[in-house]
Amino acid sequence: MASEKITVHDKVFDLLLSQSEIEARIDQLSVLINEHYREQCPIFLMVLNGAFMFGTELVKRFQGPCEVSFLRAKSYVGMASSGSVQVDGQLSPIKNRPVLLIEDIVDSGTTLAKLMPMLRDENPISLRLASLLFKPAALQHDLKVDYCGFEIPNRFVVGYGLDYNQLGRNYPAIYVLEG
Ligand code: IMP
Ligand code: MG
Repeated sequence: MASEKITVHDKVFDLLLSQSEIEARIDQLSVLINEHYREQCPIFLMVLNGAFMFGTELVKRFQGPCEVSFLRAKSYVGMASSGSVQVDGQLSPIKNRPVLLIEDIVDSGTTLAKLMPMLRDENPISLRLASLLFKPAALQHDLKVDYCGFEIPNRFVVGYGLDYNQLGRNYPAIYVLEG
């Protein structure tokens, strides 16, 4: 049984989504992902660090051939008043391949608003987005989450891959900042 409250660094967080709720939702998303991609040999492209746990659970439930790849995206907001995104790591070839990009959370959407066009420039045959969490009230870009785990309020969360100053990623549940 998961704790109802956790402390990460100096802050207290309350349970928002339990492990069993999350896993049940991932089961549902995986049915859709299997239906769509089973015969297509997709590339599952996880955005590190946050997407590692959600991405692993999706990949474990996929029943066809697939590739797994990773990239690291850092967003720097505020330079010349627009966000710029730095992508680390050599992207494996995605030309003419179906790509499912896997994120932990869509917040303002700034990271993905930069990343998706960069990936489209590589001419994948298709590009879809899966995100465990989505904060609709924070979204500032025209962006569609094809496979969304949960819509959550515009509040800070940790767990299931998401961190507060690098801690908290290991919790198998989602916790929201108290108050
Ligand atoms: P964006 O604002 O959609 O570009 O989100 C950028 C990144 O900020 C996400 O991929 C997360 O790594 C991080 N982030 C956004 N909201 C939260 C949160 O509530 N908790 C922890 N990390 C977050
Ligand atoms: Mg992220």
